[in-house]
Amino acid sequence: MKLSTKHLLGIKDLLPEDISLILSTAAQFKEVLQRPVKKVPSLRDVTIVNLFYENSTRTRMSFELAEKRLSADVMNFTASSSSAAKGETLLDTVNNILSMKVDMVVMRHSASGAPHFLAQHIPAAIVNAGDGINEHPTQALLDAFSMQEKFGSLKGLKVALIGDILHSRVALSNMYLLKKMGAEITVAGPPTLIPVHLQAALGVNITYNLAEALQWCDVANVLRIQLERQNQPLFSSLREYNLAYGITRKVLDGLKKEIVIMHPGPINRGVELDSDVADGPHSIILQQVENGVAVRMAALYLLAGREN
Ligand code: NCD
Repeated sequence: MKLSTKHLLGIKDLLPEDISLILSTAAQFKEVLQRPVKKVPSLRDVTIVNLFYENSTRTRMSFELAEKRLSADVMNFTASSSSAAKGETLLDTVNNILSMKVDMVVMRHSASGAPHFLAQHIPAAIVNAGDGINEHPTQALLDAFSMQEKFGSLKGLKVALIGDILHSRVALSNMYLLKKMGAEITVAGPPTLIPVHLQAALGVNITYNLAEALQWCDVANVLRIQLERQNQPLFSSLREYNLAYGITRKVLDGLKKEIVIMHPGPINRGVELDSDVADGPHSIILQQVENGVAVRMAALYLLAGREN
């Protein structure tokens, strides 16, 4: 089986069959990663550049490890220590890199649409590792993989996305994916951080009441307050945010049911999530990170296998 797309720019462009194929392939790679020898030759002779124009810990290391586990040749580019800092354009940088015979580009950029722009101008396959406030498809895929692993199926699963929905590319990719796979979604947070059109555009429920969302859901995917993307105050203070929307042990104990807690990282401890919840028995945050490598291996492997 093959993916219907040459690039992985966003979940928006994928068919449900593409998502199922990536998730089932990831399950096979997860098995490989449990073996003493964790490396397979699948992408030998494939050269991949990781092009990071924005900070990253998990995503960058996860892609690099996935590429190395698949035996690809890997190059890393970090904008802050490159000629981008001397004024070189994105397209010039990429064309120079491609002249070194690179097959795939994994890209993170602070501008929404940057990987889509690149896809129109270069022949290499592009994987979006997060573009501005638009999409972060591999994060949504690893979130879906982790939920499927925990609950068996995504169909009918009740997922709450909590926090800074407005600035979260993780939230948007999760909404596209979960809708395509038949899950139910509620978004919760302060009114200033939730675009009202989401209900009509994507068919998700909206609530401004944290307790209501938690009482309803099977799993809560908690998102970071993205202060670096907010150019005006959208709530009074981090302390007040924590009081109204922070997930604490006490809030969870009050639910009288068990829910699973997820977070894409990096966590702002004591803001959206307290430490005893982040590190507690209901959190699958580190499993998400573990699954990220297998999911990225699957995406890269399937994209490389597409003949055009
Ligand atoms: C997220 C991102 O960069 O979009 N992190 C990640 O990739 N794991 C979320 C965030 O920055 O809050």
